[in-house]
Amino acid sequence: MIDRVNSPPEPYGNPVGNSAVETATLIVGAGQGIGLGFVQQMLKDDRPQRIYATYRNPQSELVTLDDSRLQCLPMDITEEAQIAAVIEKIRSEVKALHTVINCVGVLHDGTMQPEKSLRQINTEQLLRYFQVNSIGAVLLAKQVQPLLKHGDRAILATISAKVGSIGDNQLGGWYGYRASKAALNMLMKTTALEYKRTCPRAIVVNLHPGTTDTQLSQPFQRNVPPEKLFSVDRTVQQLLGVIAGLQESDSGEFFSWNGDRLPW
Ligand SMILES: NC(=O)c1ccc[n+]([C@@H]2O[C@H](COP(=O)([O-])OP(=O)(O)OC[C@H]3O[C@@H](n4cnc5c(N)ncnc54)[C@H](OP(=O)(O)O)[C@@H]3O)[C@@H](O)[C@H]2O)c1
Repeated sequence: MIDRVNSPPEPYGNPVGNSAVETATLIVGAGQGIGLGFVQQMLKDDRPQRIYATYRNPQSELVTLDDSRLQCLPMDITEEAQIAAVIEKIRSEVKALHTVINCVGVLHDGTMQPEKSLRQINTEQLLRYFQVNSIGAVLLAKQVQPLLKHGDRAILATISAKVGSIGDNQLGGWYGYRASKAALNMLMKTTALEYKRTCPRAIVVNLHPGTTDTQLSQPFQRNVPPEKLFSVDRTVQQLLGVIAGLQESDSGEFFSWNGDRLPW
């Protein structure tokens, strides 16, 4: 479990002992939900920082946020060229990123619904889950690596899901989403091991946000007790608390919103 009491209060990975230094953060998948919540929360913090945030939908609330510290960049995580273009743009402006939080994920959309049984399995839908939830994250890890190779503490956090834990799977169902999050966890664990050599101060973690009131969970909230359904603000606060408490030895781990380690 993360020690939040004795941990440094640096959710955004500020260079230690130098709070006047401008830090740069990238929030991926910030058009709505938890990603948008991270941006809104970070803009309330008055420490000097630069925030890059990616979105797909130009009608998103994100692009209406008016703050000189924020730059919004369009990006679909399934298109590596678009990830590379975002990173290139950031590299033209800053030498380093201190925090990267990937909030991209899909559970359902206009055409796909999570599978309740094997009868509903189809190749196209499974591939879509893997493309968005797993492959996108490792393409991001590949492209962002040069910006995390520096001497300050840095974070690469990916929002995963407890249902991606193989050890914790008691209920079944949601084949594609579960499997794509399990694959995500393995891809980021493997990234953490490579980053130990290439970006030794970068801490790579997977985070479970808890059930959070967003469009992703909306159709499945009926059986969730109110105290277990977090607002986006609460989830963001909790995850920032976990991130603040991370040590280099936590790299490669899978944490829940309360700082507990989750089984793979
Ligand atoms: N809410 C929960 O209860 C819960 C529980 C466990 C885990 N999670 C995880 O938490 C993360 C955030 O989810 P959320 O609840 O905030 O859901 P959300 O409101 O639906 O947000 C998902 C984000 O992913 C983006 N996205 C989807 N496909 C994309 C693509 N191909 N390229 C780029 N961005 C893409 C969406 O962009 P658009 O706005 O353009 O669609 C949106 O910004 C996800 O990884 C989810 O699996 C959520």
